[in-house]
Amino acid sequence: MEKGEMTYSPYVSFGRTRRTRMTEPLRAMVRETVLTPSDFIYPMFVVPGKGVHKEIKSMPGIHQNSVDEAVKEAREVAKLGIPAIILFGIPAHKDEVGSEAWDPNGMVQQAVRAIKKAVKDLVVITDVCMCEYTSHGHCGIVSGDEIVNDETLELLAREALSHADAGADMVAPSDMMDGRIAVIREILDDHGYVNLPIMSYAAKYSSGYYGPFRDAAESTPKFGDRRSHQMDPANSNEAIREVELDIDEGADIVMVKPAGPYLDIIRRVKDEFGMPTAAYQVSGEFSMIKAAAKNGWIDHDRVMMESLIGIKRAGADMILTYFAKEAARLLRK
Ligand code: PBG
Ligand code: ZN
Repeated sequence: MEKGEMTYSPYVSFGRTRRTRMTEPLRAMVRETVLTPSDFIYPMFVVPGKGVHKEIKSMPGIHQNSVDEAVKEAREVAKLGIPAIILFGIPAHKDEVGSEAWDPNGMVQQAVRAIKKAVKDLVVITDVCMCEYTSHGHCGIVSGDEIVNDETLELLAREALSHADAGADMVAPSDMMDGRIAVIREILDDHGYVNLPIMSYAAKYSSGYYGPFRDAAESTPKFGDRRSHQMDPANSNEAIREVELDIDEGADIVMVKPAGPYLDIIRRVKDEFGMPTAAYQVSGEFSMIKAAAKNGWIDHDRVMMESLIGIKRAGADMILTYFAKEAARLLRK
């Protein structure tokens, strides 16, 4: 071949995907998925006391807050353009049936009242489950070594109602008992909360990624595990069945949890039902990125954003994430 004769290869002239990647404005034009702070829901842990702002060792930057501190953080969240928080309560006293879960002066109920009063335009969601409140750390009533389904439903319903009475904008049952969405919908409707939506932890897997959360919420089961109610990580068709049941029972938003290792489930759920779909990037997903970045093994901000865009690209309309504040700050720059 003479010098200069072939300046391009004819074999790629119709397939030059690099053309639209050459400059940032071009890349922006063809970008399919865009994250915004309004995609995020920020989880918060409320503890008894005053002036308590205690970092969780395994979750750098995430704190257990007393109600007064939770109000401050909620205000900061709203200022960043994040539309919602989800509250978890750690009670002063735990017992067999988790009675503080529906105590009108429980941690979540107090926090909801204080935050709703102090912060405008923030959607306050409450996590509805028993495991933070029971002495054995299980998500329901225990008899022998069984977590009994139907007896637990009544307690979950009472808990959800007390969150609504405190002023919650949305309740999010995370227990995975059968039939809980139906009983919660019924009790809410009976008490006039017909317009209060339910975000159901619909496909919640029995996951090793919840480890750091259980430190934060002090909810590690004292014996056994959660495999009799949370899903087997190997199953996908079963997730569809779970989500379908929750929609039939009245769920308004359905959640897949964890997020990163279950992107295929998020996609299937979104395609199958077209419902508002949430994904929970859980504590372990967060802490792994934090730990690797701290070691200098990965670029923190880059991997944080990549993990979030992956979840949105998979079909999530909203993401519960401990990165919400950091990611929102980055996006606002
Ligand atoms: C309680 C609950 C859990 C999480 C949310 N709600 C933990 C569990 O099921 O043990 C996990 C959240 C996280 O890991 O960030 N049922
Ligand atoms: Zn639980």
